Amino acid sequence: IKKIGVLTSGGDAPGMNAAIRGVVRTALTEGLEVYGIEDGYLGLYENRIRKLERHSVSDVITRGGTFLGSARFPEFKEKETRKVAIENLRKNGIDALVVIGGDGSYMGAMRLTEEGFPCIGLPGTIDNDIRGTDYTIGYFTALQTAVEAIDRLRDTCSSHHRISVIEIMGRGCGDLTLNAAVAGGCEFMIIPEITCTKEDLIQEIKLGFDKGKKHAIVAVTELMLDVNQLAKDIQDAVGHETRATVLGHVQRGGSPVPYDRILGSRMGAYAVELLLQGHGGRCIGIQNGKLAHHDIIDAINNMKRPFDMDLFNTAKRLF
Ligand code: F6P
Repeated sequence: IKKIGVLTSGGDAPGMNAAIRGVVRTALTEGLEVYGIEDGYLGLYENRIRKLERHSVSDVITRGGTFLGSARFPEFKEKETRKVAIENLRKNGIDALVVIGGDGSYMGAMRLTEEGFPCIGLPGTIDNDIRGTDYTIGYFTALQTAVEAIDRLRDTCSSHHRISVIEIMGRGCGDLTLNAAVAGGCEFMIIPEITCTKEDLIQEIKLGFDKGKKHAIVAVTELMLDVNQLAKDIQDAVGHETRATVLGHVQRGGSPVPYDRILGSRMGAYAVELLLQGHGGRCIGIQNGKLAHHDIIDAINNMKRPFDMDLFNTAKRLF
């Protein structure tokens, strides 16, 4: 291979820039040309592709987001759309593609590979929900942001003897919520992996207040329930003022913490190594501290993400 492309796709994540930089600098060191595709699969479809040099990735390692831009582009599920994308890649003389993104981006990379264009997937998402890796690029920065938010809420809800409900991102994955809850000393949580009804939760909170609690923080993974309604129900049942906070896209921004920069850099460099070894259709992970790669199809179809039940049990004992 002589020319490779790189794109970021789906929800952005802090550390994506470090990953692009890892790809670009390693590829150039190895004598390859690198092309950046703007706005993910959308830009690929629209042939918005530009050559990247060493200086194109200067000063990006500290920046959140992705300087290449990203997009959600559901049309990429259509074979006809991907056909145009492959034509564009070939027109630009690109031999292989590095895709940095979440689940949806992996699906696109898997399809392109099946249709004859070799791709390598890098896990870039704050959700930490990608199979074949212990951690995703962006997760630790988002965790830091969520914990800082909880700390701030603690100050005000302790002053006012209130209950605070905080909604944390993660889509169907409770890792951000669970870890932020433990680090932020939250008393209660609702996460997708553990069944807990609203009634159970309210009962637990009541018990806590019967034992003398003066304030509490409840961490809830997004999409589980309406946190404003939950706050109202808790207030009615427990008799303490309750406020809801939706942390939202604040969690997606910010300068990446060192771990995300290092992970992005390592994974970016590893993607180029794999391509040079002739691999395609692989996704990269970090497992027990070591870089690993798996067949994307196998990762998507067969691998499971383990849930940290030990941490959940610890959290329960700390409430
Ligand atoms: O996948 C990252 C993520 O931030 C999820 O946590 C969240 O559900 C989703 O993206 C939000 O997507 P959008 O930015 O398209 O609203």
